[in-house]
Amino acid sequence: MKVTLSVIKADIGGYVGHSETHPEVLAKAREHMAGAKKQGLLIDYHVTKCGDDVQLIMTHQRGEDSEAIHKLAWDTFIEGTKVAKKLKLHGAGQDLLSDAFSGNVKGMGPGVAEIEFEERPAETVIIFMADKTSSGAWNLPLYKIFADPFNTIGLVIAENMHGGFAFEVHDVKEHKKIILNAPEEIYDLLVFIGAASRYMIKTVRHRGTGDVVAMSSTQRLALIAGRYVGKDDPVCIVRAQGHFPAVGEIMEPFASPFFVEGWMRGSHMGPLMPVSIPDSTPTRFDGPPRVTAAGFQLSSGELVGPRDMFADKSFDLARQQANEMAYFMRRHGPFEPHRLPLEEMEYTTMPQVMKKLAGRFVDLD
Ligand code: F6R
Ligand code: MG
Ligand code: MG
Repeated sequence: MKVTLSVIKADIGGYVGHSETHPEVLAKAREHMAGAKKQGLLIDYHVTKCGDDVQLIMTHQRGEDSEAIHKLAWDTFIEGTKVAKKLKLHGAGQDLLSDAFSGNVKGMGPGVAEIEFEERPAETVIIFMADKTSSGAWNLPLYKIFADPFNTIGLVIAENMHGGFAFEVHDVKEHKKIILNAPEEIYDLLVFIGAASRYMIKTVRHRGTGDVVAMSSTQRLALIAGRYVGKDDPVCIVRAQGHFPAVGEIMEPFASPFFVEGWMRGSHMGPLMPVSIPDSTPTRFDGPPRVTAAGFQLSSGELVGPRDMFADKSFDLARQQANEMAYFMRRHGPFEPHRLPLEEMEYTTMPQVMKKLAGRFVDLD
């Protein structure tokens, strides 16, 4: 049976500030999704949050980029925004960049990751959701999961994964894409994806079968709007088990926290802290950035779950390390490498300051 798993998310208002999603907004989204399930538009749905982002996890049979599904998500966000406005939440409707829906939510603000696939006898999926960071945050973990045998021993010892995986990388500045194969092109691949603010992994495929195993949202709100209006707070779907990496191989990269762009005012580097869904409440310096993971088994498109994958105690040490890394970075205050390079900051006063002081700059000899 062919099923499409669509994850569409948006920040439609924060509670308190940008730290959380209000329960009434989530309740409204669930009500809207329940109606769509009753009408038969959706097979199933799960509504959750990651920090100030509402996450719509949907299964259906209308394929990727379905106008009906995108409209459903858009209308759900519009309804949620009405609640956010009533409660005077912060930034109500902030990711809805357009006044009217025009067929597809891509380019309109919400983040989207969708995969259509033939449901396997046991279809295990993990949906990663992050807040206070951008899509480039997935580059390092996706590389480790699908190309690094020190993380994924299956690449070495499992016959059905030994052929490797293919990475589709997007250049979000030039609007170009390239496919690079692991393991033989990993040095070329890393030249690009190590620069995660520009080159982002969109899709990973199993080279033997061509099956899509991972799909991220790479919509950069900043580029969509023509100016910085917010980091994307991305999502990523990863299918697991069988001829794909095991759940434990997929979760493992997050046990060693790494730095990502985002945090306060989308203008800083900070550690990506793996947390349970209730703990995705970034309140320290509006951070540090969080990642949550909802795990499901699919049963004829029904979402069996979720399991809150980072609630596991084995991530306690990672959380502690991420907190320590946060302290190291915070010491730098407004200095790099905590503050992002000039062109990556979401907020900047540089043009005004430059204009004001232009006459005071003199040539060095
Ligand atoms: C970062 C983020 C927050 C806000 C900050 C200022 O992605 O959402 O750190 O940038 O709280 O928010 P405003 O400008 O809405 O007052
Ligand atoms: Mg927000
Ligand atoms: Mg957010």
